[in-house]
Amino acid sequence: MIHDNRSSNRSGNRPFQDVLQARMSRRNVLARGAALSATGFLAALAGDRFLDRGAATATAKGSGTAIAQAPGSSLISFTPVPAANSVGPVPTISSNYQFDVLIPWGTSLQPGGPEYNGDPNTRPTAAQQLQQIGIGHDGMWLFPIGEGNDRGVLAINHEFGNNVHVLGKEAPESLEDVRLSQHAHGVSVVEIQKLNGKWQRVNSSKNRRIHVNTPVTFGGPVAGHPLLQTPAGNSPKGTVNNCANGYTPWGTYLTCEENFNGYFGATGSWTPTEAQERYGFSAEGSGYDWHKFDPRFDLSNSSYTKEENRFGWVVEIDPMNASQTPVKRTALGRCKHENAEVVVGQGGRAVVYMGDDERFDYIYKFVSESNWRSMQARGISPLDRGKLYVAKFNDNGTGEWIELTINNSALAARFADQAEVLTYARIAADTVGATPMDRPEWIAAAPNGDIYCTLTNNTRREEPDAANPQAPNPFGHIIKWRDSNNHVGTTFTWDIFVLAVDTHDTDKSAFGSPDGLWSDPDGRLFIETDGTQPEINGVTLNDQMLVSDTNTGEIRRIFSGVTGCEVTGITVTPDRRTMFVNLQHPGDGDPSLTNFPAPQGSGKIPRDATVVITRKDGGIVGS
Ligand code: FEO
Ligand code: CA
Ligand code: CA
Ligand code: CA
Repeated sequence: MIHDNRSSNRSGNRPFQDVLQARMSRRNVLARGAALSATGFLAALAGDRFLDRGAATATAKGSGTAIAQAPGSSLISFTPVPAANSVGPVPTISSNYQFDVLIPWGTSLQPGGPEYNGDPNTRPTAAQQLQQIGIGHDGMWLFPIGEGNDRGVLAINHEFGNNVHVLGKEAPESLEDVRLSQHAHGVSVVEIQKLNGKWQRVNSSKNRRIHVNTPVTFGGPVAGHPLLQTPAGNSPKGTVNNCANGYTPWGTYLTCEENFNGYFGATGSWTPTEAQERYGFSAEGSGYDWHKFDPRFDLSNSSYTKEENRFGWVVEIDPMNASQTPVKRTALGRCKHENAEVVVGQGGRAVVYMGDDERFDYIYKFVSESNWRSMQARGISPLDRGKLYVAKFNDNGTGEWIELTINNSALAARFADQAEVLTYARIAADTVGATPMDRPEWIAAAPNGDIYCTLTNNTRREEPDAANPQAPNPFGHIIKWRDSNNHVGTTFTWDIFVLAVDTHDTDKSAFGSPDGLWSDPDGRLFIETDGTQPEINGVTLNDQMLVSDTNTGEIRRIFSGVTGCEVTGITVTPDRRTMFVNLQHPGDGDPSLTNFPAPQGSGKIPRDATVVITRKDGGIVGS
C-alpha cells in the first residue's frame, strides 16, 4: 500500500479536450445512473459466466444460482455501521452480522508447527516463518473441497510488511533478517474447515508457503528470452508484493506482483535504464533493504542484471497440488499488477482484466487466442497465447482497447520483438496513447457483463478528464464499462459508477480510497477501502467494506476495520453464507494503536488476519 504513491509515467498521454464539459456531462449521466444502468446494461447476457460464487453456469466451482430479485426490491437490507462507530482499535460490523478471526500472521502452516502470537519481545526466525502464515494478507480465493461450504483450500497473498512490524527493527542487519522478511512475503495455500462451528486451518498435504526464494518458471512469449536471463545464470525464483488476485475457470489461483521495484536497490554505482525508471526502481528502494544482504536484489551487481525483469507478472498457482511450480504468465504483460479478473468471453476465450496501480497508469485486458478448453486440450495454457490490450477512454463515454503488438508500427519502431513489448508493457502503453488513470486497483466483473474498476485516488492529478474527473482526486472513484462482443471486442462504453466524494454527506455510505472489489452473482458490489477516509461528524473513519446494490446505486457500510489497517481480499463459500476478508497492517504494526486480533489492552503486536463474516440469520452475506 504505502509504496503505490509514486508516478513514473512521463509519457504526457492526455488525450482529452474540453475536459470540464465532459466532466459535467458524465456527472449528469451519473445522476440518472440507476435507470440507465438497469435498462442499458442488463439487456445483454454475459455469456459463459463462471466467475462468481453461485454463478448459473456449471463449472468446477460455482454450485448455486443467482437469486431472483423481485422488481423494485433492494438487494441490501442490513443495518449499516454508523460512521460514528467506524473508528477505534477493534472491528465493527453491521448489527445483523458477526465475525470471527482466521489465520493471523504467524499461525503455523500445519497444526503443531511453530506459532507466533504477537509477543512484542520476539519475532519468528526465518526458518519458523517458512512454516507459518505470512504477513500482509491481501487478495485470496477459496477453492472448495466437496460442496465447499465448510471445507476448502484458501490461497492467500502476503503483500508486504514493514521492517519494524516484521523484524522489530527499522532495517535488516543480516541475511537472516532479510530471509525472515522474504519468508513473510508471498503466498500461503492452506486447507481450512469449519469444525464445531469455527473455521480453522487443518493438517493437509496441500498446505504450502510460496515466497521469493521458491522456484518458479515462465510461460508465454517472454519465456526463455534473454530479457529473463542473468549473467550469473541463476534459475528463476520467487514471487513478491503479492497484492490482489484472480482465479481461472480451470481451478487455478492467480497472484499479482505489484510494487516489486521496492525490493530492489543499489549498493554501488548504478544508472537506471529508461525501463528501470519507468518501473520505479531506485538506488534506495522502498526501505526493505534486501539488496544490502541478498545480491539478487542489488541493481548495481552486474551478475544479476535483468533479475528485476523476472518480477511484475501475474503468477499461476495450482492450489490443489503443493508440488506444482508456480508459472509466471508473461502474455499478460509486466506492470504493477493489482488484480487479474478472469471472465469467459465470446467463443469460450479466457479474458483477463488487469489494473496497473500507480498514478497515471493504465488498465489492461488479455484475450486468449481461442476457446480455453480447446487450448488446454492441445496442451497450451490459455494464458500463454493471446492478445494484450490497453484501455483508451474517450470523453464521450466510448472507449477502445489498443492492442500491444509488435505488428503496430509505433511499437515496432521502439521494441525488437513481442517479448520486449510485454516486458515493458508500460512503455508500450505510453507509446500507443492509453489513458492515464487515477491508480487502477481491483477490477470486478458483474453478472450482467459490466466491468467495474476502483481508481483509488490521485492527489497529483492537475487536469481532470472525463474518466478521471476530479483534480486532485484525494478520495477516488469507481468506473464501469461494457465491452463489445462479449468481452473480446476492441471497443467499449463506459460510465462513472460513483465518485467517492459524492458519498460523504451520507452517514451510512461515506468512504474514500476504494480498492478491493467483488461482485456477487446477484449484482451486489462489495467495496473495500485502503487509505484516506472522510471525516464525518468529527470522526475520521477506519478503512471499511461497503455493499452496493448496483441496480439502484445504493451503498451501505457493512464492516469497519481497525485503526491503521486496510480492508482487502474477499472470497466466499459457494453458498455465500460465509465471507472471508482481510485486515492488512492493523495499526501499521503499532501495538499502542491496536492489539488486533489479540484482546485490546493485551500489549500484543497487531497481526494481519482473515476475518470470517456471517449473517446472524444464516442469510447470504451482503443481503
Ligand atoms: Fe496492493 Fe494497489 O494495493
Ligand atoms: Ca494492498
Ligand atoms: Ca490494493
Ligand atoms: Ca491500495
